[in-house]
Order: sequence, then structure tokens, then C-alpha cells
Amino acid sequence: MLPLLGTLREKIDTMKQLYTVKNSKLHGKGLFAKCNIKAGTNIVEYVGEKITKAQSDRIAEIQLKKAQKNREEGQVYIFTLNDKYDINGNVSYNKARLMNHSCNPNCDTDIVDDKIWIRSFKDIKKGDELTYDYGFSFDPDDFRDHVCKCGSRKCVGFIVTENDWKKLKRFLMKLIKNCEKAT
Ligand SMILES: C[S@@+](CC[C@H](N)C(=O)[O-])C[C@H]1O[C@@H](n2cnc3c(N)ncnc32)[C@H](O)[C@@H]1O
Ligand SMILES: [Zn+2]
Repeated sequence: MLPLLGTLREKIDTMKQLYTVKNSKLHGKGLFAKCNIKAGTNIVEYVGEKITKAQSDRIAEIQLKKAQKNREEGQVYIFTLNDKYDINGNVSYNKARLMNHSCNPNCDTDIVDDKIWIRSFKDIKKGDELTYDYGFSFDPDDFRDHVCKCGSRKCVGFIVTENDWKKLKRFLMKLIKNCEKAT
């Protein structure tokens, strides 16, 4: 494609975008609605490098260490595609990588033919931050690494999928009881 056409195409793509990138109160940068968005709209595709689970574990470990040294770095940019593969979304052309997690999100994800779409499941107002449930399973050994700062009334304090909130709450209750016994 001619360079001029390439630039024009990029401009048109940007105009069509339903989101804009801004600093977020939750963490680093985030995506925000550029206009009112109706429920059920595909907003952005989560793209990146297709990697095996073994590659994924290595990349995740390195990224976590980077984030521990530099707070502006996100801890996780890997998206589970299926039982065999993940998507490493830590590439500049993947704007979806900047979406933050919330315990009261307005988007969810939909995987169709190996494409990961981030989709609104509520009507969203212009200016609202776009968030989704990262789907992190509750793991008693590492949930503390992922503190949630979504600030919503439903916030459980950690980035753990809503499906596992009961497990998380049971675990925290046990911890509190053990602390009470010990004092
Ligand atoms: C995919 S990145 C999201 C983009 C990130 N804000 C950035 O500027 O790179 C994921 C990382 O962002 C941070 N993050 C996302 N949602 C968060 C939340 N609700 N509370 C605290 N940190 C969050 C965590 O470090 C998480 O591992
Ligand atoms: Zn939260």
C-alpha cells in the first residue's frame, strides 16, 4: 500500500474507534468511551502474539518481576485463548491491552473463531472508563500479587473473577478467624 494511503487508513480507523486512551485512576493508562456505546457492541479486538502455555508462564513471570520494580508497568498482558494457547497482548498495536479490570465492569469478552472481542454488556456513557473482569481464578498462593483498585462498591480488593468471589471470601474469613484466635 502507498505510504499516504496507509496514513489515511490509520486516520479513518482512529475516527471510527469507539474509545480513546487516557490516564486512569485505576492504574496507568486505560480505555475510555469516546461516545455513548450501546450494550452488545464489539468495541476492540484483543490482538497479539499467539503463544503456548509454557511460553506464557515464562513471559508472565518476567512481566510480574518488571511490574514489581516499576509500578507503571502492568502485571499481566496475557489473555487465555483456549486450553493450548494464550495471546501475549503486550504489543503496541494492541490497544485493548490498556483496558483495566473492575469488580463492576461494563464490558465482557467474546471469543469467536480465535478472535477475542471486548464487548459492552451495558449501555456505556461517553467518558466512562471501559473495564472487564480479567477472569483471574482465585489462587490462595498468588491472589495477593493482584490488588484491585477499581473503587467500585462491589470491589473485593483483589483482581479475582466474580465466579471465584465465594472462594476468596471464604479464604479471607478463615484468615481473619485465625488472626482473632491468635490475639
Ligand atoms: C493489561 S494491563 C492494563 C493496562 C495498564 N493500566 C497499563 O497502563 O499498562 C493489566 C495490569 O494493569 C493493572 N490493573 C488493571 N486493572 C487494575 C485494577 N482494577 N486495580 C489495580 N491495578 C489494575 C494491573 O497491574 C494489571 O496486571
Ligand atoms: Zn475491584
